[in-house]
Amino acid sequence: MDNRISITDLKAKKKLGERIVMMTCYDYPAARILEDAGVDILFIGDTLGMVVLGYDTTIPVTMDEMLHHTKAVVRGSSRAHVLADMPFMSYQASSEEALRNAGRLLKEGGAQSVKLEGGVRVADTVRFIVEAGIPVMGHIGLTPQSINQLGGYKVQGKTPATAVRLVNDAAALEQAGAYAVVLECVPAQLARTISERLTIPTIGIGAGPHCDGQVQVFHDLLGLFDSFVPRHAKRYTKLGAEIARAVRAYAAEVREGTFPTEKESFMLDKAVFSETARIA
Ligand code: KIV
Repeated sequence: MDNRISITDLKAKKKLGERIVMMTCYDYPAARILEDAGVDILFIGDTLGMVVLGYDTTIPVTMDEMLHHTKAVVRGSSRAHVLADMPFMSYQASSEEALRNAGRLLKEGGAQSVKLEGGVRVADTVRFIVEAGIPVMGHIGLTPQSINQLGGYKVQGKTPATAVRLVNDAAALEQAGAYAVVLECVPAQLARTISERLTIPTIGIGAGPHCDGQVQVFHDLLGLFDSFVPRHAKRYTKLGAEIARAVRAYAAEVREGTFPTEKESFMLDKAVFSETARIA
């Protein structure tokens, strides 16, 4: 059996003052690389829909798509905690349906925990899933599945009333049994207050440096998209440009006949070749 990072280990990190490193991860090779690089939580986010499948939003992502990619990430890792996102409409209609879908992500997908969006309004559902033995990470602030209601990808909690609402959302998730909470696009001072009030870890994305951990989207961090980089993302490399450079070199060598060389070819033994030439 794999010896993976558990939610107990993750909660202990907050007590020890150790920051949690979480990254989105959608396939087998990335899982191997990220785990090797020491990422604590490999997260199959529903951003999958946008950065891998080419949808405009996360709304169309299905349970089957999440399961397909979760299985690949599980196959590519053995130590990291694997967290799977619950896609839009997999948990909103009823707690029973939410539990069934959360169960599929663990039972069929092989994840160790699930994440869903919302605060007070999903607290009963979170409690229902947790009581069935499935660990849940909450997600408040900018919740992309509610983009049509929020009216755009905007920083949340900027007024006293909305800031208090976020503090209450975080508390409701902790009381419902969530083991951690993502704070997305929340002012840094507010994220600090929430992180100090909660006993469970906060994981920030666009929420400043005072959260107990950070999450970033694979493609943002590694420069796989040229068209748009969110303000909260730091590009540590430009893999997109590097891939294009390598593929251009390959295409040029194919066209000029310099690839493959003998080194990349399989040759007949000289005697077999002479015999073949004689017969043919
Ligand atoms: O789906 C996702 O990638 C997310 C992160 C932005 C936290 O929910």
